[in-house]
Amino acid sequence: MCGIVGYIGNKSADSVLLVGLERLEYRGYDSAGIGIIEDGEMTIRKREGKLKALNDLLREMPVSGNIGIAHTRWATHGEPTTHNAHPHTDSQKKFALVHNGIIENYAELKEELIKEGYIFQSETDTEVIVHLLSKHYKDNFEQAVIKVINLLEGSFALAIISEYHPDTLIGARRGSPLIVGKGKGENFLASDIHALVNLTKTVYYLEDNEIAVLKRERLSFFNNTGKSIKKEEKHITIEAKAIDKAGHEHFMLKEIMEQPRIISNIIEKRIRDNKIHFSHIPMGNEYLVRVGRIIIQAAGTSWHAGLVGKFMIEEFARVHTEVDISSEFRYRNPVIEGDTLMIAISQSGETADTIAGLREAKSKFIKVLGLVNNKESTIARESDAVIDILAGPEIGVASTKAYIAQIISLFLWALYIARIKWSLKKETVEQYIQELKDLPDKIEQILKQKDKIEKLAKKYAAKNNFIFLGRSYNYPTAFEGALKLKEISYIHSTAYQAGEFKHGPIALIDATVPVICIVTKGEIYPKMLSNIQEVKSRKGIIITIATEGDESIKKLSDDVIYVPQTIDILSPVVNVIPLQLLAYYIAIQRGADVDQPRNLAKSVTVE
Ligand code: G6P
Repeated sequence: MCGIVGYIGNKSADSVLLVGLERLEYRGYDSAGIGIIEDGEMTIRKREGKLKALNDLLREMPVSGNIGIAHTRWATHGEPTTHNAHPHTDSQKKFALVHNGIIENYAELKEELIKEGYIFQSETDTEVIVHLLSKHYKDNFEQAVIKVINLLEGSFALAIISEYHPDTLIGARRGSPLIVGKGKGENFLASDIHALVNLTKTVYYLEDNEIAVLKRERLSFFNNTGKSIKKEEKHITIEAKAIDKAGHEHFMLKEIMEQPRIISNIIEKRIRDNKIHFSHIPMGNEYLVRVGRIIIQAAGTSWHAGLVGKFMIEEFARVHTEVDISSEFRYRNPVIEGDTLMIAISQSGETADTIAGLREAKSKFIKVLGLVNNKESTIARESDAVIDILAGPEIGVASTKAYIAQIISLFLWALYIARIKWSLKKETVEQYIQELKDLPDKIEQILKQKDKIEKLAKKYAAKNNFIFLGRSYNYPTAFEGALKLKEISYIHSTAYQAGEFKHGPIALIDATVPVICIVTKGEIYPKMLSNIQEVKSRKGIIITIATEGDESIKKLSDDVIYVPQTIDILSPVVNVIPLQLLAYYIAIQRGADVDQPRNLAKSVTVE
């Protein structure tokens, strides 16, 4: 969700802030702004639209100074307009702040402030914070911030500057991530580690209700009672090259093309001597053998990975597994008892709904295993054990490589539990490992067909509705294919379990609707063929994802994309690749911005 950067030092704050914002733009991009104290005076520049609009404004009206804050927004309260863009200031422009999160009691706070004569400039929830600061400020900046955050309900990461204290930058957090970066004669604030790459390697992660006070040469930390606290120093390992496009036109394409390497990397890190290693996970085999039920909870693409994971865990480890959408799990008073393990899946590790689900589980005293792509994220820190999916930074808003890394991590985890429980023989596990080792080459073969898939995209790009069908292991693949397409091309697309399709949704079929059918060879192949026949006899346009060598499928299909054969349980990894490419090229055909699709954000840190 919104990106935050803050800087205090000797450099020109505008350039540091703009580079940081560029790296965070995937967190939100409907408006952007910076606030800098220039010659003792608060100066704000903000603009509706992408970062480019702010850059243009700054070229026309430059601002420089050595302390500042910056923001790229994903609107929650108030339309994405310039006056709702951050930073927000109090009426005298003595304080300016940027905010990520939602202030849930803003309406009542606003009403009180209006009664007291405060004048609001925006429709945001954020603006109450800055007026409260002005109201409660009595010479001491930190104390005013502490007083104000204790009045707020909801979530926030804040970066605040004040004209009264041009040597101080303050950060505070509850529920939304905020990181302090330590430099030499300069210090930084950021909502996301990517903004700090190349600026510093030393960071501190703020916890809920903590406040950081940044001076040029000094950092201090407090809790919300004002007590000074000591924070553990951490080191960033991400290199700048991991977050560039590596010659590709878009991050999404780069990340799709990276997938064979990601799988090889996971194999290298998790498999030694044909054995799966998760030994660093402090859960204990005794406990893992006892687990009688698993609840997976996740959002978006991670939820789809969870749906695939259920098949794997139940098949290999023979543990009853349920998969919940995080935002639903949290509010339905779930029955949680006994030896239940929760697996919280989240690429970012910062999705607010998934964090809320995790906390719900912890309040019921069950253990949580976090499956994340960021070992320092909130989910990683609050879980009892963590699996790093090892996908490397994912910048494209539409998740691709993290999805396959999540599935493969779940595959290995399920096999690992199977070995601990003796539900699978050693030789069987070894065969599965061999199948996994063959995947990178198989995916390379699909990626080589990208020009063919691009042609297909041109043929179908003008269609306004798509349907995706899959069964068994590949119904989640159909869901993921439909999500990719709608996310980045804004085409209405929907997915069904192919067997369920005849129970109503088949009414949607006519000669104009392309139906993408995942029909690779495997156990349910004959059933899938029947479902395709049902569509065909109603004149639907059929595009199939089929196994190489399946000539007969051509008779049923308007177009076929062939993929190499693998075992059923790994087929979701192979079959999703052409769907990612198809979505990508259709979006390109339609002129959409694939890395920053409208209305979306990479990491959704509000509930
Ligand atoms: C957002 C993103 C999706 C992502 C979902 C869950 O909606 O746009 O791509 O799948 O959040 O994110 P997470 O980081 O928890 O996997």
